[in-house]
Amino acid sequence: MQKQAAGSSSVASSAGRYVSLFTERFAMRVPVVQAPMAGGATPPAMVAAVSNAGGLGFLAAAPFDAEKLGSEVAAIRALTDRPFGVNLFILEPASPDDATVRRALDSIDPLRALLGLPPGTPLDRYAPDFRTQLDALIALRVPVVSFTFGVLSKEDVTRLQQAGSYVIGTATHVAEGLAWRDAGADAIVAQGAEAGAHRGTFIGRAEDALVGTLALVPQLVDATGLPVLAAGGIMDGRGIAAALMLGAQAVQMGTAFLTCAESAIPAIWKSRVLSAADNATEVTRVITGRHARGIRNPLMQQLGEHPERIAPYPVQNALTQGLRQSASRAENGDYLSLWSGQGAPLARKRPDGIGAAALVALLDREWRDVVSASNGLLND
Ligand SMILES: Cc1cc2nc3c(=O)[nH]c(=O)nc-3n(C[C@H](O)[C@H](O)[C@H](O)COP(=O)(O)O)c2cc1C
Repeated sequence: MQKQAAGSSSVASSAGRYVSLFTERFAMRVPVVQAPMAGGATPPAMVAAVSNAGGLGFLAAAPFDAEKLGSEVAAIRALTDRPFGVNLFILEPASPDDATVRRALDSIDPLRALLGLPPGTPLDRYAPDFRTQLDALIALRVPVVSFTFGVLSKEDVTRLQQAGSYVIGTATHVAEGLAWRDAGADAIVAQGAEAGAHRGTFIGRAEDALVGTLALVPQLVDATGLPVLAAGGIMDGRGIAAALMLGAQAVQMGTAFLTCAESAIPAIWKSRVLSAADNATEVTRVITGRHARGIRNPLMQQLGEHPERIAPYPVQNALTQGLRQSASRAENGDYLSLWSGQGAPLARKRPDGIGAAALVALLDREWRDVVSASNGLLND
């Protein structure tokens, strides 16, 4: 099969080899990228398992300082020789005034008290320094890097590419895709409204950027001419086949991997995902100060009673962290952030505790079966 032009994809017969510029570049046998998921869901064991299975594993490195970033990348390299990715959040340093912190704690402290925690206090630091993380990432020379919450300068994109990294930007609408294209990105993640956890939106209001995956992917393919990875609500072979038909060159799946054996999130989070209904999730900014999709629970509902008190990201995120970590340790699903996409119920059909490699193999079989069956859509 011939390589095709950027921005288009080609779908193989069920026995054939799927070829797109993106999958060829990283010798992927399966057009599945495991989404980076901050919060413990994508440890090195999962990243390596996915890459070894012919997909592309991705480390969520946003919460890490430079040292931890280095040790996690070393752990992945010890487990695989295959390409993998590392993801960061693009953030400005946060220096909130006391009133902003005080107001946020007025809502958080009663919930901390419920869990037996003392009142919260202002912090020295609300997130790792992005510039330090970026320099560390460049020095690590990893095969693929991706970013969300913003766009890099051309200079930073060039520095990464000169270090041998393939650069992917996250877009939730076309203007963001064009901003990444103009910065020199190699590919775009199209994050549809169905997606679990934080919205990547960085141009305009998040409320205006809830474009569904079905509508978003072809628009980003047409507008950017870059390889597009479809993300949001893709849980099985049907979703993968549909995304490839829309012109995506691969899919990026998060929620589907959240309940895998390697995912080191609390068991109660997995069980809430597995028992969720299709309408169980909501996009909210009350937990972290940035819009994110998760399963409704008392944490979301109670913080939502005073939206005017919510501090911007990453301040609210850091201020609610102690509460959420304590809930995690206690397996208390009521005060965790239960990030999940709208496709959560589709995770139930997987065998209990399925490994990430087995999931990649299943997904590959499923999407090929869908494509084969689609030959019967047209009557002679
Ligand atoms: C628990 C969780 C954590 C996530 N963390 C990140 C992250 O650190 N960086 C990022 O770019 N995307 C993150 N995402 C979003 C994914 O990259 C992707 O857009 C999303 O999972 C796709 O939708 P799906 O969950 O329906 O598959 C996260 C998603 C989930 C479910």
